[in-house]
Amino acid sequence: VAPRALIAGNWKMNMDRVSSEVLASALAQNVGSVAVDLAVCPPSVYLSPVSVVLGSSGVALGGQDCHTAQNGAHTGDVSPEMLADLGCTYVIVGHSERRADHGEDDAAVRAKAEAARRAGLIPIVCVGETEAERDAGKALDVVESQVRGSVPEGLTGATLVVAYEPVWAIGTGRTPTADDVAAVHAHIRKVLGDLCGDAANVRLLYGGSVKPGNAKELMSVANVNGALVGGASLKAEDFLGIAKATP
Ligand code: G3H
Repeated sequence: VAPRALIAGNWKMNMDRVSSEVLASALAQNVGSVAVDLAVCPPSVYLSPVSVVLGSSGVALGGQDCHTAQNGAHTGDVSPEMLADLGCTYVIVGHSERRADHGEDDAAVRAKAEAARRAGLIPIVCVGETEAERDAGKALDVVESQVRGSVPEGLTGATLVVAYEPVWAIGTGRTPTADDVAAVHAHIRKVLGDLCGDAANVRLLYGGSVKPGNAKELMSVANVNGALVGGASLKAEDFLGIAKATP
């Protein structure tokens, strides 16, 4: 049995306080109409108001990044314990935008994933090849190396989510073919077999230009257990449309 799908919205550096609350409210009111788990990852400054609006609706909350330390002299950073304190269940680590904008390598991502576990959070560990790497036929090798370097050993389906996001598909409107997604996800599942006791239960999300119109095809691919959604997570109708198209 495949794990229950998770549709997670990564709001990135978008929204303001009022629009965050309006969107969260719409999701909280409609979560009962979808058969998948929903999560939203707002900018850290809006976690608190969104948490209040989500309440006990069942829509989970996540951070977009975290520091490795519990506290200390790290100006501008947020610790996983702080995210947990606000009611977060998840934290995204190793998003390609963090890897590119902040020079995070696999070791840094792995340390963040371990820190997330220390705080009781479920890390959503992101991996994905660039367009040049895919064109060079290296997509599977790159993703395998990122998974081996970024995912702590010993996690389980209850404590780990992995997101495959081809860098060239993020925010571009372009997506890999279903066959390409299937090949990468099967490979990630196999590699996780070396790192996790129950790799079959780890949710593997696909991310990169997921929209209501392509969600059914992408979410039906073998070993795809949900989506990490950027742009289309900013409108309740689109985000719920993706959730409804997910088996
Ligand atoms: O974390 C989300 C991804 O980067 C996907 O973003 O749906 O805007 O392509 P996108």
